[in-house]
Amino acid sequence: MKAISKSQPKLMIAGVPVVQQKSKGNGVRLISSSSTDATHTIPQPFLKWAGGKRALLPELRARTPRYTGKYIEPFLGAGALFFDQDVSKLKIVSDFNNDLIDVYLAIKFDLDDLLQELDSHVNTSEHYYEVRAWDRQDDWSSRTRVQKAARFIYLNKTNYNGLYRVNAAGHMNVPYGGQVRPNWIQKDLLIAVSAFLNYKDSEGSETTKLHSGSYKTATKLASPGDWVYLDPPYADTFTNYQSGGFTAQDQEELRDEILRLTTEVGVPVLLSNSDVPLIHRLYQDKKHKEFFKLEKIPVTRYIGSRVSSRGAATEVMITNYKFLGVEV
Ligand SMILES: C[S@@+](CC[C@H](N)C(=O)[O-])C[C@H]1O[C@@H](n2cnc3c(N)ncnc32)[C@H](O)[C@@H]1O
Repeated sequence: MKAISKSQPKLMIAGVPVVQQKSKGNGVRLISSSSTDATHTIPQPFLKWAGGKRALLPELRARTPRYTGKYIEPFLGAGALFFDQDVSKLKIVSDFNNDLIDVYLAIKFDLDDLLQELDSHVNTSEHYYEVRAWDRQDDWSSRTRVQKAARFIYLNKTNYNGLYRVNAAGHMNVPYGGQVRPNWIQKDLLIAVSAFLNYKDSEGSETTKLHSGSYKTATKLASPGDWVYLDPPYADTFTNYQSGGFTAQDQEELRDEILRLTTEVGVPVLLSNSDVPLIHRLYQDKKHKEFFKLEKIPVTRYIGSRVSSRGAATEVMITNYKFLGVEV
């Protein structure tokens, strides 16, 4: 990677310099100096997230088409592919999980306060359950965005396996993880993420637009020239990101929305999903086969922190590129 220009304005976040670098195939990246030593930090996921795509980045990069418009990712989660995008291009990202989007907003707008609030937590079972219970208490709605965001990050890093699970009433119900040294502060990473989220293009316009809500709110904004990446809760797997889940009917509606994007808008779409009969049927039946290419991708399954020995697993990646004549 080469630094873009020595004359670029110095961006300081929480007292730490952040510079832009140009990388060969991947546009402009941000890199921030560490607050404590000479190492550098790049923006990347700061949460553990079920279905996080960090390990699949090489496969996703290999399926990134040449596009000139916006990047749209409406099932954001921890945002592995989002943080891998050119910081200087327009990105529309969203998730159904309002509390998650509020965490991104707190990192974007209130980083100093958030870092201070994160510092107020401790790794004990007693403190964990006390903080977890906040959302069951009367004063929950008067808690600040910073308090809620710090709680979200703290619980995510100290709970069992980084799960996000709520009961029917929407209350967090994941048990304490009991890890020896969980790292919920990650100051340098949060600085790099904040810089990424705050980045403005040469005309002073923000390059990341964050929303909470259903994926359709974001896919409706797609227009020719854009690229849409869809990473929904996988069919036939854990779907309790939010009470309600993502049903077989939701998968079918999503397929229909991708079909609309393909035939009415003409935007390239990449979809990740599980390698199960429902997904094969939705995208490879007689009626839909001509629009979609389905590829099986080998993946490593993790059970807790151990690699599972239950044989090779596969997922699928589905594209409409061939139908649209789009090149990668
Ligand atoms: C598989 S995860 C995405 C993981 C992400 N690609 C990453 O790298 O971390 C699926 C996400 O979809 C969100 N979600 C579930 N139902 C949704 C819906 N109807 N509309 C938008 N987002 C939804 C969940 O909150 C979850 O964050």
